Amino acid sequence: MQSAEARRWLAGQLAAAGIDEADYESCLLLKAVGVSALDLRTAPHQQLRPEQREQLSHWLKRRQQREPLQYILGEAWFYGLRLQVSPAVLIPRPETEELVEKALPHLPPGARVADIGTGSGAIALALAAQRPDLTVYATDISADALAQARANAEALGLNIQFLSGDTLEPLRPYAPFEALISNPPYIPQQNIAGLAPEVRDFEPQLALTPGPDALHFYRCFAAEAAAYLRLGGQLWLELEAPLAQQTAALFNAPLWHELQLLRDLSGHWRFLTARSGPAS
Ligand SMILES: C[S@@+](CC[C@H](N)C(=O)[O-])C[C@H]1O[C@@H](n2cnc3c(N)ncnc32)[C@H](O)[C@@H]1O
Repeated sequence: MQSAEARRWLAGQLAAAGIDEADYESCLLLKAVGVSALDLRTAPHQQLRPEQREQLSHWLKRRQQREPLQYILGEAWFYGLRLQVSPAVLIPRPETEELVEKALPHLPPGARVADIGTGSGAIALALAAQRPDLTVYATDISADALAQARANAEALGLNIQFLSGDTLEPLRPYAPFEALISNPPYIPQQNIAGLAPEVRDFEPQLALTPGPDALHFYRCFAAEAAAYLRLGGQLWLELEAPLAQQTAALFNAPLWHELQLLRDLSGHWRFLTARSGPAS
């Protein structure tokens, strides 16, 4: 089979399986077997080798089952970093890049910052890559996620202190911090069944939903995170847009001030930031 034919075949099969970006994904699959977009344009009649065809068929079968492409190829991009991802970790999302982008300019030089529920390490690694002056900590309750995050830090040559445990607990010996940042599990449990199969059937439940109380992690941050921050230290959270007002209502004086909800690029209330302690 020639490479251009393979592209049409893959795109057709993917579209028939209900995949929106079938054409784009067909190019990514071909690139992963060594046929770049440039090759497709300059040498569309190049014959694929048998092992390339076999690999593509194998990946196609998995993708037709709606396994996310990032798990199939074992990589995802976040803030310009190539991260290895496995089904132990959430595939990092573009909204979370926005959280990093919003927080970065506010972090004081030399700040000690912790990413809670680090998953692939996405937030912590982006912060460390952008700001070598920061000391970055990252926690997760999942040992498999932490192993993946550690592997990513090593591959990228970035220095993060990884800690295992529940929510804020592992940070206790290292407090106070200048900033805490988190994209915790926030999808209401009853919404999981209605999600795309890629998310519902493949991403770790532990990363998606906190269980019956959708605000579980926000209640915990509202009640306890101020004690882990210097006075005036910053909290940066991603949240479930329809629950934004309810989430914000948890962060009250005197533990918190300068509370703000921020929109994502799609216009949804997606982030919350606040400073610890009473307003001065
Ligand atoms: C929504 S994912 C975010 C992953 C990553 N920060 C990102 O933005 O791509 C939430 C992460 O929180 C972790 N997690 C779930 N419950 C936790 C808990 N009680 N304490 C710490 N981490 C937890 C999950 O294992 C998962 O890696």
